[in-house]
Amino acid sequence: MPYSQNYDVLIIGSGGAGLSLALKLANHSMRIAVLSKFALTAGSTYYAQGGISAVFGADDSIESHIEDTLDAGAGLCNPEIVRLTVTHGKSSIDWLMEQGVVFTEEQTASGELKLHLNQEGGHSHRRIVHTADATGKAVSLSLIERAREHANIELFEHHNVVELITSSKDTSKDTEKRILGAYVLDSTKQQVKTIAARVVVLATGGASKAYLYSTNPQSATGDGIALAWRAGCRVSNMEFMQFHPTCLYHPHAHSFLISEAVRGEGGKLILPDGSSFMQYFDSREELAPRDIVARAIDHEMKKRGIDCVYLDISHKPEQFIREHFPTIYQQCLEFDIDITRQPIPVVPAAHYTCGGVLTDSYARTDIPNLYAIGEVACTGLHGANRMASNSLLECLVFAERASEDILQKLPGILPLPEIPDWDESQVSDSDEEVVVSHNWDELRRFMWDYVGIVRTDKRLSRAMNRVELLKKEIAEYYSNFRVTSDLLELRNLVIAAELIIRCAQQRKESRGLHYTLDYPETDNSKPAQNTVLTPWTTDRR
Ligand code: FAD
Ligand code: SIN
Repeated sequence: MPYSQNYDVLIIGSGGAGLSLALKLANHSMRIAVLSKFALTAGSTYYAQGGISAVFGADDSIESHIEDTLDAGAGLCNPEIVRLTVTHGKSSIDWLMEQGVVFTEEQTASGELKLHLNQEGGHSHRRIVHTADATGKAVSLSLIERAREHANIELFEHHNVVELITSSKDTSKDTEKRILGAYVLDSTKQQVKTIAARVVVLATGGASKAYLYSTNPQSATGDGIALAWRAGCRVSNMEFMQFHPTCLYHPHAHSFLISEAVRGEGGKLILPDGSSFMQYFDSREELAPRDIVARAIDHEMKKRGIDCVYLDISHKPEQFIREHFPTIYQQCLEFDIDITRQPIPVVPAAHYTCGGVLTDSYARTDIPNLYAIGEVACTGLHGANRMASNSLLECLVFAERASEDILQKLPGILPLPEIPDWDESQVSDSDEEVVVSHNWDELRRFMWDYVGIVRTDKRLSRAMNRVELLKKEIAEYYSNFRVTSDLLELRNLVIAAELIIRCAQQRKESRGLHYTLDYPETDNSKPAQNTVLTPWTTDRR
């Protein structure tokens, strides 16, 4: 039997963005639901390593953080959004500490304790606040613990959103489009329920699972971007998919990141013969922004026909390595790589979605009462390339901004009309699950081969042809069979892939993370433009 629930605020996603927002709203009188399609720790937040950027260093300044962010963003950051975000760095870290997050400290010469700051690519100063090399785990577990303490936050694991409900599905005569809630698959019961809510917030993370090799967990299938697009929101800058330069290369390692902080502490990138190469690509060498380092590695691998390059930190004292990078040390040891003695085999892998659902400075999307925060959103902070550790900061700052707007608006939002139940009368159970798994593999492989670090017009159009075929097949499958979690993810991922390709096809230059052999130069003849896709002028079937 279908059933429905009612909330004031429905937050889709239990990562850094979603839980921060829930906690910021929780002291006000309202009912809040937070959904995760798997466990509460399923998102990228839990796996974050390096830390959170914020100005704490005595020699550092807000202006310098702004300048570095703008520089990494290759002319496409929104300067107002950069300033807004960066100026909230310190208060965001203070707030996390109030929630119980313990960051790594160091002793000053006078014996006082202060936050230890990591160094990462693109940053001209040490400014990354961290918890050893497992910052995300510390953040995620504290936020979950705090959220469990609030009676008005209800946490739902294994609840996968099928579709957003807007007033176009409304049975009343109200024609102004607004958000009404979502249809949600409770995967434990295999049942689709209706969750009605006056405000809905997408905090679903990114789309890096569109690629065969990725540092991201399974959850990163671009669901929020596809849901918003289908509901009628603009999506922007999807061509800027970030590839992290150093993912562990080992046949049994799935998506294990080697933090940029390793390079921040002096880790050198080397070829199989032990020679370094970054000096030929950028004067900042290993600490150049990610797009430059990932492209350099890709170039060396293709030129030499090698499977990986190496990251060597073994010249540092063993105790230093074990103290600073306990998780990486342990994980590599499990693969018989002792990083205190050996270089680490690494390859670039899809890591971060700089584009996403277009939002304003209060995280508002094009649909009234629908917000997007965290990696799912395109706020203008990252431009054409996100600088390291600016992402968790963005999650925190935009959770705060959304909470301010929601608190102000909520009292004026009209009661919800009656919403029809999810209709399963025309579908049956799937008889060929292999279609889903086959299409998953195919999609991720051609995205890697044709829409990866280096693109061409021909590769993009090959990829688009395949997307069109897959979309047809998936649509047919979706309309005939009962939804499953895998099918929902595939249906969203193919849309995310399409949006990445569409944006990449529109950009006739190379800029930041988008590099194409057909237009290898940055077009400086006119001001840099964002790529904005508008659903109302696009065939969205
Ligand atoms: P996530 O943390 O990804 O959470 C997404 C949530 O949405 C999950 O709960 C998921 O279950 C839920 N969800 C998704 N789709 C649905 C659906 N259809 N229905 C219901 N729920 C859904 N950034 C930094 O700033 N510093 C770092 O050190 C850093 N290190 C990183 C290391 C790794 C290995 C990775 C992968 C990323 C790293 N990043 C880092 C990036 C950063 O972690 C992410 O951008 C950020 O955590 C995203 O947070 P989020 O809350 O937006 O989404
Ligand atoms: C890392 O630790 O290298 C990841 C940092 C980030 O993605 O911001």
